[in-house]
Amino acid sequence: MDKLLQPPRKRVKNPLIQLFLLLLALTAYALIYILWPTSHLNSEIVPINAHEIIAQCIALQMTPGPPANFNMRKQSDRFVAGTRPTVIRNATIWTGRKDGEEIVHGDILIDKGLIKKVGSVNDAELKAYQHVVVLDAKGGWVSPGIVDMHSHLGVGSSPGLSGARDSNSHKGLVLPWMRSLDGLNTHDAAYRLSISGGVSTANVLPGSANAIGGQAFVIKLRPTKERSSSAMLLEPPFSVNGTHVDPFERPRWRQMKHACGENPSRVYAGTRMDTQWAFRQGYDTARTIMHAQDAFCADALAGHWGALKGHEFPENLQWEALVDVLRGRVKVHNHCYEGVDFDGMVRLTNEFKFSIAAFHHAHEAYLVPDLIKKAYGPPPAVAMFATHARYKREASRGSEFAPRILADNGLDVVMKSDHPVLNSRHLIYEAQQAHHFGLSAALALASVTSTPARIMGQDHRIGRIIEGFDADIVLWDSHPLALGAAPTQVFIDGIAQFDTPYVSPKPASAQRAPTPPTWDKEMKDAVKYDGLPPLEAESVKGKVVVLRNVGRMFLRAGRGGSVREVFRTEKTTRGSVVVVENGEIVCGAAGETCADALKRTDVLHLDLEGGTISPGMTSYGSAAGYGALGLVHISGEASTQDGPVFDPLSMKVPGLVDGTVIKAADGLLFATRDALLAYRNGVTAAIASPGSLGFLSGLSAVFSTGAPHKLANGALIQEIAALHVALSLNSLISVSTQIAAIRGLLLGTTDTPSGDVKRRFADVVAGDLPLVVAVESADIIASLLTLKSEVEAETGNPIRLVLSGATEAHLLAKEIGQAGVGVLIQQRPYPSTWEKQRILPGPPLTQASGIAALVAHNVTVGLQSSDPSEVRNTRFDVAWAELESNGVISRVQALELVSTNIERLLGVKGRNTDIVAMRGGSDLEGKVVAIISPSQGAITLL
Ligand SMILES: *[C@@H]1O[C@H](CO)[C@@H](O)[C@H](O)[C@H]1NC(C)=O
Ligand SMILES: *[C@@H]1O[C@H](CO)[C@@H](O)[C@H](O)[C@H]1NC(C)=O
Ligand SMILES: *[C@@H]1O[C@H](CO)[C@@H](O)[C@H](O)[C@H]1NC(C)=O
Repeated sequence: MDKLLQPPRKRVKNPLIQLFLLLLALTAYALIYILWPTSHLNSEIVPINAHEIIAQCIALQMTPGPPANFNMRKQSDRFVAGTRPTVIRNATIWTGRKDGEEIVHGDILIDKGLIKKVGSVNDAELKAYQHVVVLDAKGGWVSPGIVDMHSHLGVGSSPGLSGARDSNSHKGLVLPWMRSLDGLNTHDAAYRLSISGGVSTANVLPGSANAIGGQAFVIKLRPTKERSSSAMLLEPPFSVNGTHVDPFERPRWRQMKHACGENPSRVYAGTRMDTQWAFRQGYDTARTIMHAQDAFCADALAGHWGALKGHEFPENLQWEALVDVLRGRVKVHNHCYEGVDFDGMVRLTNEFKFSIAAFHHAHEAYLVPDLIKKAYGPPPAVAMFATHARYKREASRGSEFAPRILADNGLDVVMKSDHPVLNSRHLIYEAQQAHHFGLSAALALASVTSTPARIMGQDHRIGRIIEGFDADIVLWDSHPLALGAAPTQVFIDGIAQFDTPYVSPKPASAQRAPTPPTWDKEMKDAVKYDGLPPLEAESVKGKVVVLRNVGRMFLRAGRGGSVREVFRTEKTTRGSVVVVENGEIVCGAAGETCADALKRTDVLHLDLEGGTISPGMTSYGSAAGYGALGLVHISGEASTQDGPVFDPLSMKVPGLVDGTVIKAADGLLFATRDALLAYRNGVTAAIASPGSLGFLSGLSAVFSTGAPHKLANGALIQEIAALHVALSLNSLISVSTQIAAIRGLLLGTTDTPSGDVKRRFADVVAGDLPLVVAVESADIIASLLTLKSEVEAETGNPIRLVLSGATEAHLLAKEIGQAGVGVLIQQRPYPSTWEKQRILPGPPLTQASGIAALVAHNVTVGLQSSDPSEVRNTRFDVAWAELESNGVISRVQALELVSTNIERLLGVKGRNTDIVAMRGGSDLEGKVVAIISPSQGAITLL
């Protein structure tokens, strides 16, 4: 038994040496077999398949990776016959080499699915190729294809339909034998969308319902001639279609999902203790099998055949994948969030001696880098979201500075989508944000290309632009770390993915990586306060503040409520000056020079370094469902939020509140971390509608995101803004019933609703109260437009109708414009459900974005946020809306999308008069440093 407890032998890494050892052993065995006098073997009868057994045993020591001659390949195994060679001329190439610091100005030649040359390709060299496609990059940026290390593409397909939910098995806590490949739907609408964001490769993981959810598979996203799931696989393990694999072939890397913490514990109604025991039990089973194999092989390799008589090589198909983990042949991807769970996993790895390739999500990893490093084997990488956080308890201490802090601690940083949690099309945006919050440009780009490729064991062919690598290449319209960067072409396996890519021209400033602001204090505080740094900001009254070097200023114009650009300082001249006193701009609002103020020494001087002054933004949250900003702290925790209202169409409403329209103002929660972060990023007011499970939501309220509580001065800006209902195909009740209900309420023909409901709908019909309808489908929108005319014909009064969500609204842009109906819409649409299928994705797939299409028809559009934790990024959404609009939307108009338009649509009577000062450019280079509040007579310095 002692032998079984020995630590595993050091593995021989070099495949050539491995092969050599294998041959040596076989030769030795053959010699012994031939030369040994047979009389000596009487007690040791050599089985007829001894050479196979020995080969199998020696193969157990082989580590995965490409075959030794892989670099010499002349053609990719994924090459599609007929694909023409392509030369990309005059590109600025981020190769991913030299720690991500190498940039080559030149050409890339691709053929046979491979990168043939990087640098300068002259015409003489091209003579060797036929029918070469020449693509002029015009000096533009080129990167490797984006690699998404955490995706549920194909297994959690879009549009989400009950017939294609294959990301989780619910048959047990430990299921290493499951394979995501078995659920890999070839019809996910997201493949093409993700490619349009430059994503070429994804690691498709099973979900996190189990401690061990099963095996993951790396795929390339492009369509294949075969149209099969298997044809999408990148270097699948040989066991993918064979139980007994060739022992002479070097194994390929496998991938496996593990999950700890809330998800598996919740799904199996257990606790962390149950999950952790399930892990240990599973690993103990695998270890027992491995030890039996090792004991068997020790005898076989020593020629003790007598001891093995009647025994076969111990194998178990169900557990072989987990045995492979123990043999160091599987990249373990561990969904794991917080300290307690890292600790459990680190102990598990040391108990069973296996390594974890990456902790995924890992919102608390930055707080415990040393603990992460204690995992058995090489330190796990950390795969993260940039700012998506606080959606559950485990994620409540997440920090935007985590990528930088982890990198500073020497850990590998990966940004991932968890698609469709985040739309993997915008994975590069995660890298952009990580860079904005301090991760170096080289590491940020690496975090979505070369680093995940390496962590998945695929860095011999993807993730960098190197001769001999797969021809997965993205041409960008700007620097990939510039906000709104979009591919102008994507090559996967050397195949161009777009016939007629659309481009929205980008400003010259977008051709370099943004210079991020400094965050030294914020970064220190994130760690100092254990992930919960104080976010409350102090405002000062009676102070004169001189804002110098203002690069650009936007203000609201007069009462009419539009935004105007006051000035823009040319780079060549000194930035302008703006003077603030008692929360009011006392000089500079008309573009005056305010030269005297510069000389004052009794005042506070703030250098904006060319930054922007713009109006405070107003946010509108969730369209349907619940969890809008201001009504929830942690959406996964029922006890931290206002909660859902009763829906009169689908449930029995208790008599106490039957007939009452619920007011969000009654349930507002102040000083949520998401609201305070929104405030710190210039979103100073927000509108929340009550959480709804169905048809009738209630009355929205307008509140100040920076206020400490409802009774504070200016906290509740408006008690009632609009009336909110939701219409959806995704309901227990038919759409026609839902429309009938609205019709009845608007025309007053419904008997049931008493007092309050009746009164509110009467206000809508009178045009006094806007009616906001959460609706996605163009068909339902059309029915609503018809209903609007029907009601108006009856009453003679125009209704203030607003559509929210409205993903398919662009299909009726003209009709919506003519009907004078407003639209609240998300900046980046995604076809998550059937009724949101027909998105207008924008460049490079379509010329127009959904917002631009509506604006072009004079529809008043407001931006709607997707999730409370995303509200802080509204200023990025604004810039993005402008950048992808092909000039249809100016910066002024983009600012109106989150200020005057939202207020007009939602019936906000006062105005959000706050003014936001940003240091250091705008967008990804800027940092909000002051919020000027005329209504409070104060300025908040951040
Ligand atoms: C590359 O493109 C840039 C931008 O269009 C241009 O200025 C430059 O001359 C080009 N260089 C070559 C070598 O063609
Ligand atoms: C699966 O089987 C087919 C047909 O035998 C073979 O061509 C292919 O290479 C196999 N795939 C793997 C990954 O072994
Ligand atoms: C939008 O409004 C402008 C200005 O009022 C008008 O010239 C234009 O024709 C309108 N466009 C559409 C599509 O209605």
